[in-house]
Amino acid sequence: EGPGRMLEPQAIIEALQALQSNSLLAGKKFLITAGPTREPLDPVRFITNRSSGKMGFALAETALEQGADVSLVCGPVQLQTDSRIRRIDIETALQMHEKVQELISSQDIFIACAAVADYRPAEEQPEKIKKSTEQTEIKLVRNPDIVEQARQTAPHVYTVGFAAETTELAQHAQQKLVNKGLDMIIANQVGKSAGDSGFDSDFNTVEVFWEGGQQSYSRELKKHLATLLIELIAQQYNNKKDYHSNVRYIETQTH
Ligand code: PMT
Repeated sequence: EGPGRMLEPQAIIEALQALQSNSLLAGKKFLITAGPTREPLDPVRFITNRSSGKMGFALAETALEQGADVSLVCGPVQLQTDSRIRRIDIETALQMHEKVQELISSQDIFIACAAVADYRPAEEQPEKIKKSTEQTEIKLVRNPDIVEQARQTAPHVYTVGFAAETTELAQHAQQKLVNKGLDMIIANQVGKSAGDSGFDSDFNTVEVFWEGGQQSYSRELKKHLATLLIELIAQQYNNKKDYHSNVRYIETQTH
């Protein structure tokens, strides 16, 4: 009690974290998805993609270093995480969707970096599919759009998507920004034309779009790029928050 009273230990930890990270992100809650999903056909086969998880994991580590409280929902990848990251391993798009829906409402910022399968086999066969005819067909059904539905469930969460494109990068990315109702989209060229960049590379080259702004980053190591992207996300998140609190202030003054 009185002068010299010790603060609660939790308050000391939070103050130290803020000093250490010197960041706008101290204590902010981040949800990040990373890696591929696996969509099973039978007990031994699945449909997947080339995502290694490196981009999403680099973002998660950087957010943690900046003082954020990070949850990472990831598909099957060969990467380790810092024990302070809350890591949730899943396999399918439906499992990722369920976890994101469970966690989204309590977050400040959501970054959807996972390469989610748009379609899954309509049925998972209980036994290994036998080879019989010369040709066969697999019926696919649509998976939920995880980032779009997260935005609908929790419109207050600053939501960042990625766009992986093989052609007309800027145009397709800006369409996704609008169609999915995102705050920001980070577009990367993928496929053969991207060279050693994008999927399963240590490097990435991105163009970022948000309402009223854009920024390009030349080819960088994903770890370094993650630092630049987290800084940009923090700035834009704070701009949006300041804008909304100013609007609220003006509303209370005029009523
Ligand atoms: O993992 P790495 O090897 O490091 O590679 C990184 C990366 C290339 C995978 C990453 O940078 C990237 O581009 N991730 C998004 C890949 C993707 O699925 O893009 P898309 O354009 O198909 O999807 C657009 C957005 O919608 C993405 O934020 C995606 O997470 C989301 N999405 C897509 C489909 C779906 N059913 N639900 C979703 O939430």
